[in-house]
Amino acid sequence: MTKIAIVTGSIRPGRQSLNVANWVKSIADQRADAEFEVVDIADFKLPVWDEATPPSFGPGEGAEGQAWAAKMAEFDGYVFVVSEYNHSITGALKNALDFVYGQLNNKAAAFVSYGSAGGARAVEHLRGILSEMQVAHVRNAVLMSLFTDFENFSVFTPTEPAAASVEPMLEQLVSWTKAMEAVRDGAFAPVGANA
Ligand SMILES: Cc1cc2nc3c(=O)[nH]c(=O)nc-3n(C[C@H](O)[C@H](O)[C@H](O)COP(=O)(O)O)c2cc1C
Repeated sequence: MTKIAIVTGSIRPGRQSLNVANWVKSIADQRADAEFEVVDIADFKLPVWDEATPPSFGPGEGAEGQAWAAKMAEFDGYVFVVSEYNHSITGALKNALDFVYGQLNNKAAAFVSYGSAGGARAVEHLRGILSEMQVAHVRNAVLMSLFTDFENFSVFTPTEPAAASVEPMLEQLVSWTKAMEAVRDGAFAPVGANA
């Protein structure tokens, strides 16, 4: 069965990220074509990445990073829950991504974001990061407003249009996730192999 992680994007006390991740899972669990699991970056207590060699060169040294990398390797696709901090993703999510590389290569991802402008600026930054990590990121996304989807900016109350945008995002993600399984299985020659 295709496995998709719903990855939180923030770790602060009082964060919305885990609420949003659990909400996405409650909708995703209605699908029969993939299994979904919430993966909370806060659980991994990752230090700031400071190792001698990048994960693209081989496995990391620290136990926390190894546990995180092993968890991410379990999945075929990812929904990233994206909190917008200073017009980008959180430092916590960027740091967590700096611990992995091959674990994400040739897999697929989608985004559920929030912020004053729907978290769109953060999602665009994350797309750039995931491109470098050779992740196929889908177009359809769930963008939620701090003004309408969070009562008093603090209680998660998703609007109907936000809820309605989850399924189209998942539809594309599951489709691309399954397609990328064929890429990892070697069904296609790597680009440039014949050059
Ligand atoms: C350090 C920090 C910077 C922020 N910068 C932005 C920002 O640039 N744009 C925005 O729309 N919201 C910004 N916010 C508001 C957050 O998007 C909002 O607090 C959201 O709930 C944070 O996600 P979290 O609850 O998962 O931590 C910022 C919040 C924090 C804590």
